[in-house]
This record gives sequence, structure tokens and C-alpha cells, in this order.
Amino acid sequence: MNLLDTRLHRLAFAPTLLDLSPTPDDLHGDVLAGLSSAPKTLSSKYFYDERGSQLFEAITRQPEYDLTRTEIALLQHVMPQVRDAVGSDAHVVEYGSGSGRKTQLLLAGLDSPVAYTPVEISREMLLDATHRLATAFPEVQMLPVCADFTKPVPVPPSLMPAARSLVFFPGSTLGNFDDAQSLDLLRAMRETMGDDGAALIGLDLVKDVAEMEAAYNDAAGVTAEFTLNLLARLNRELDADFDLEAFAHRAVWSPDNSRIETAIVSRRAQVVRVVGRRFAFDADEAIHVEISHKYTDAYFDELARRAGLRVVRRWNAPADRFGLRLLEVA
Ligand code: AVI
Repeated sequence: MNLLDTRLHRLAFAPTLLDLSPTPDDLHGDVLAGLSSAPKTLSSKYFYDERGSQLFEAITRQPEYDLTRTEIALLQHVMPQVRDAVGSDAHVVEYGSGSGRKTQLLLAGLDSPVAYTPVEISREMLLDATHRLATAFPEVQMLPVCADFTKPVPVPPSLMPAARSLVFFPGSTLGNFDDAQSLDLLRAMRETMGDDGAALIGLDLVKDVAEMEAAYNDAAGVTAEFTLNLLARLNRELDADFDLEAFAHRAVWSPDNSRIETAIVSRRAQVVRVVGRRFAFDADEAIHVEISHKYTDAYFDELARRAGLRVVRRWNAPADRFGLRLLEVA
């Protein structure tokens, strides 16, 4: 390809946004409802403001939190097998705005992927990530979709015909959804990928309890800061007056639910004001903020089956620390 061809090629594949105008999150309404419920709850989706996203990045560098490093190493190692199993000319549909190392490994390792569609509710994050990837992969058509991936997503048609869609959902993010939500999400994924499609999902696997708990209680206190940043966010955005010193981060393994359950615990009896409303806390009262499910094959295979999917390939990291699963329509 000469220089002019390369430029034309890049021009042809300038990112084209499909904006489905997803309903914006209602922080105000959700927080008032969550703090009025018993037990009190706040959604972990509100962790990720600018500071929260920086803190999450920092978590992935902590020695105790090896999910991200393990998944990247696994993906790197098994990519030739993923390439064979997926086949050529796939249209990759990523849940969340990629642009990170995992997306790059996948796009570089697949056999001539024709298009890449990140699906993300935040337009700004979506466009930022897509532009970065467009530079690294000029031969892959960038077709970002601004939408809520928990609902079925129309996959935009690519200029070069795609052999199939491949939904990519790494990071064990599925584990942050409860059982009913995960089932709904997988059913929506089945519709998004279509009858000939596939999905590649990253799952953190059940392992030694002390190791799982340590991953959410790192010695440097980064996860605690990440969790408590939610209260700082409410102080900033909802004119709340949480005293961050008066609350503590708690993350423990629940064997009954096979998940780490994270809460923000009130260190003493106190009253907090949020958008002019007063909320009373008992000493030791918890606000439930996050679940991080850890998977067994039996549990995930059954979940997939109920969503009309089946696991066709499974790849595990050494000592079964993390898994990648390839799914197709059952
Ligand atoms: C994004 N998600 C899969 C992370 C997890 O492990 O549940 C979020 C996280 N929360 C605390 N540490 C990391």
C-alpha cells in the first residue's frame, strides 16, 4: 500500500457513531431511593466518576488484585486458539469502551477482523477510546454505539461484510451483576450476537478465600479509597455531608452466594444530609455497594444454558485463577 492508499484507507474508516441516546443515569433518584431502602444500597455503577476510574486503574496495579494481569497474560497465551475458534472477518462488539491492552490483543490476534463496535453509555469515554484505537488499527472499521449494553444492541453494518459478530466482555465485569441481572444481560447478549455469533467472556474463578478477600482489601488501601470515593462523589455532586472518616470499607467473601460483598459501614451512629434529606445510620450499619461474583464451571454453564447459550471453549489461567469462555447460541 502506498502512502496515498494508506491515507484513503484511514479516511474511509473514520469512526461513525451510532447514538441510541440511552437514558442517562439518575444519580439523584437512585441515591435517595437506595439510602431510603432497608438495607441501604448504592449501585457500584456510580463508582466510576473521573477519580473512581483512576482509582480502579490503580487497583489493577496492586499486588493483591491480579485479575487484570492474569486475564491479559491468559489472553496473550491463548489468542492463537481464540483466532482459530472465532474464524476470520469477525465484527468485534465490546461491552464497555475498550482501548486497553485486552482490546488491542484481541484485534491484533484475530484473523482480519472487519469492524470494532464498543458499546458504552458515556459518549465521551466511547469517542475517546474509539479514536485511540482507530489510530492503532486503521484497517478495522470503527463503529461505536452509544447505548446501554444490558439491553440488546443493534450491531451497525460494516462496509466489509462480517462473517459473524463476536461480543467481548472481559474483566469479570459480569460478576458485578446479581444472578437475575446476569441472566438478563446474557439473554440480551444472545440477541446482540445473532444466531451465528459468539461471545468471549472473562470470568474470575473461585479460589482460596484469603486470596479472594485480599484482592478487595489491598494493603495500600486503594480499594478502600475507591469504595469511599462514592461518598466523596455524593458530597461533590449531591451536596451531601458524608464525613469520610466516619465510614469504613468492608469486603468479605460470602460462601452462600459465591461472591465478595462490599459495603460501606458507618463507624458510629450518625445523621447525614443528602440533597436536603436526612438519613440516619446506626453504628455498624452497612450500605451495600458492590458484589463481585466468582465463578465455577457448573454455575456459569447453567447460567449460559438458561440464556440460550452454550460454552464451546474454555481456557483457564495457571492454577485456574481466571477463565475465558467462548459462547455460541445453544
Ligand atoms: C470491574 N470489576 C470487575 C471489579 C471487580 O473486581 O469486581 C471492580 C472492583 N471493585 C473493587 N475492586 C475492583
